Amino acid sequence: KRILHVASEAYPLIKTGGLADVVGALPLALDATGAVESTVFLPGFPAVMTGLIDVKLYAKATALDGSPVRLLSGKTRTGLRVIAADCAPLFGYAGNPYQNADGSERAGNGLAFASFSKLAAEVAMGIGRRKGFDVLHAHDWQAGLAAAYLKIARAPVTTVFTIHNLAFQGLFPRALLDKISLPSSVFQEDGLEYWDKVSCLKSGLVYSDWITTVSPTYALEIQMDESGMGFAGLLRSRSERLRGVLNGVDQTVWNPAIDADITTPFSATDWSGKAINKRALQDQLGLSKKASGPLFTIISRLTGQKGLDLVPDLLDGIVARGGQLALLGSGDTAIERAFMAAQDRHPDHISITIGYDEPFAHQLQAGADAILIPSRFEPCGLTQLCAMRYGTIPVTSRVGGLMDTVIGATPASVANGAATGVTFYPVGPHMLWAAIDRTFSLFADAPVWNRMIDTAIGQDFGWTLPAQDYLALYTS
Ligand code: ADP
Ligand code: GLC
Repeated sequence: KRILHVASEAYPLIKTGGLADVVGALPLALDATGAVESTVFLPGFPAVMTGLIDVKLYAKATALDGSPVRLLSGKTRTGLRVIAADCAPLFGYAGNPYQNADGSERAGNGLAFASFSKLAAEVAMGIGRRKGFDVLHAHDWQAGLAAAYLKIARAPVTTVFTIHNLAFQGLFPRALLDKISLPSSVFQEDGLEYWDKVSCLKSGLVYSDWITTVSPTYALEIQMDESGMGFAGLLRSRSERLRGVLNGVDQTVWNPAIDADITTPFSATDWSGKAINKRALQDQLGLSKKASGPLFTIISRLTGQKGLDLVPDLLDGIVARGGQLALLGSGDTAIERAFMAAQDRHPDHISITIGYDEPFAHQLQAGADAILIPSRFEPCGLTQLCAMRYGTIPVTSRVGGLMDTVIGATPASVANGAATGVTFYPVGPHMLWAAIDRTFSLFADAPVWNRMIDTAIGQDFGWTLPAQDYLALYTS
């Protein structure tokens, strides 16, 4: 079978979060099974156009605003097969793919991603003399309208829509409908209308043959009114078409034994090199090497979803206990400022880097003792998976994919060696502090802590099993 993945991000070409990691890895894992051939359809952002190799003209097309589009086929250096929609008026802007430099939404998003989705549907049906695809697998709202275009065309293409994050709903004024070549019949409660707006997310949820989420627990959570973000009823009504498939991590990108970005390699059987990475990190960041407690890291978007507004108030306590924090991230300015203020108070113990830096993220995973992930909701979460592979203990809330991947330390799970992390719920300062406090106690007990690292680093969160689950959907 031929699978067309449709998404706005794919590692290593363009990435703002975990979506790119998944779209960069899942197609390769699917192809490795030998059962399917996967291609990724992407907007021709400048980073995509410059990152592609072996570029050839695939077909010519026209965008919804009449702009000419060159569909180009090519490859990434990682071997991903790509078709990119090269159309400067729609996708020719550098930087964040969805936002202006000041963080506001780009004005043209509605038309750009409607065009992108329509082009994806045309490619899936077979454009020009090109062969079509059996399955269109759309990821998040940017690709959500593709299912509507295929449905209206009655195309014999199976559609799968993966929800990576229900918080991003692709909402646009109703007037968008006049410009995107869909019949007005779609603008209904059982179509893509959402409180008198067009929701590209809802299009994916309503018109796709299958809906998936990126963890089993998130699939259940979003069917409850309190965590369904307005879509719980719709998702309940489609529950027999809704599956949770846990994400994996790319084992070649995240492998401490061959990671060129870290100071000293180490492995699941011999992770003694981890201590050297910790010292190098402390040196590099100007952190004291005399600290008795764990070095925590945070590698994240700094947003309310991630619960990171809760952490700054707890940093004096972490430092008082002999702990340290090294953070890499960017997002809400109020959260950024609160972390910077803590760094000013404790420069020997707290290091804050505002920005986005892939190699530094690897160094943090290699050198830290624990990673803080106090998310209010988390569809899957990838940093806890990377952390475990690097022998870094996740301290997480018990929600979504965090719940499906981290085994919290309890007397029983510590005694039988099953614990891989420290977990807490509900999400608030009190329970988060209790989890941090417990992390200090576990860290101080070297045999227990080392056993936790052994268990965590030995987990298998690769793509082999998830790829099988997706194959089963494609063929059903
Ligand atoms: P989300 O997609 O919700 O942001 P995930 O945990 O699924 O969260 O994925 C986040 C991905 O982005 C991980 O690969 C993580 O390492 C990476 N990441 C997040 N923030 C940064 C940053 N500031 N610099 C480098 N990588 C980052
Ligand atoms: C989203 C979610 C995150 C998930 C990622 C990849 O960004 O917030 O939890 O891991 O998508 O599926």
